[in-house]
Amino acid sequence: MIVVPPQIGHRGAAGLAPENTLAALRAAARAGAAMVEIDVRLSADGRPVLFHDDDLDRTTNGTGPVAALTRAALAMLDAGSWFGPAFAGEPIPTLEQALTLCLELGLAVNIEIKPAAGYEVETARVALSVAASLWPDDRPPPLVTSFSSEALKTAREIVPDWSRGLLVGAVPSDWHAQTQELGCAVLVADQAELDRSIIGAIGAAGMTLLVYTLNDRERMRMLWRDGIAAICTDYPSSS
Ligand code: G3P
Ligand code: CA
Repeated sequence: MIVVPPQIGHRGAAGLAPENTLAALRAAARAGAAMVEIDVRLSADGRPVLFHDDDLDRTTNGTGPVAALTRAALAMLDAGSWFGPAFAGEPIPTLEQALTLCLELGLAVNIEIKPAAGYEVETARVALSVAASLWPDDRPPPLVTSFSSEALKTAREIVPDWSRGLLVGAVPSDWHAQTQELGCAVLVADQAELDRSIIGAIGAAGMTLLVYTLNDRERMRMLWRDGIAAICTDYPSSS
């Protein structure tokens, strides 16, 4: 069974610094987080980069699909100013840069494969090959998660020994069959859609249950008491 800390920094630490940037990873480490979640997709020339949305518009000074720009063009964009002037010029990092920093900072990692439609297999294959090539054997391997079953099947081929987690909104009635078929020991569900009985059923099946995205400390404590393993939060801390 995978061991996860009770809190995972969402998109690094999306409440403390611009999401999915190196600044967010540093902020998570400074706040005491032991693990961060990052979103990974491909540039036009097939390089894995950290980015959540399909389009650049919300969090950068660029426009249009991330997948339309090369890595070099993405690197010129400002992914920090939207969050605050202190982060002006913060770039979109490559997966390689992000993982290297996580290793330096001692952060465990949850890589979410966030493919553009139609690129599920390619995104997982490229991103996880890059991750596997630089991740040392003596560190606990990243947890790989995705909403895409195709991405998770590809993860099973590329990094068979790394834990996988199926991302869902509300827990579907066939959650057990789906996770069994994909070889996922982890289920990651929307915290707003959970109740105590489903939490109990998932635990009784020997699965690790993570939830997203939760910033309210009282509800965190309630869900921990109910038996979830970890919470993905924009404001990670050590406790
Ligand atoms: O870890 C789960 C969470 O990151 C999924 O939602 O939209 O923030 O990628 P989203
Ligand atoms: Ca995510």
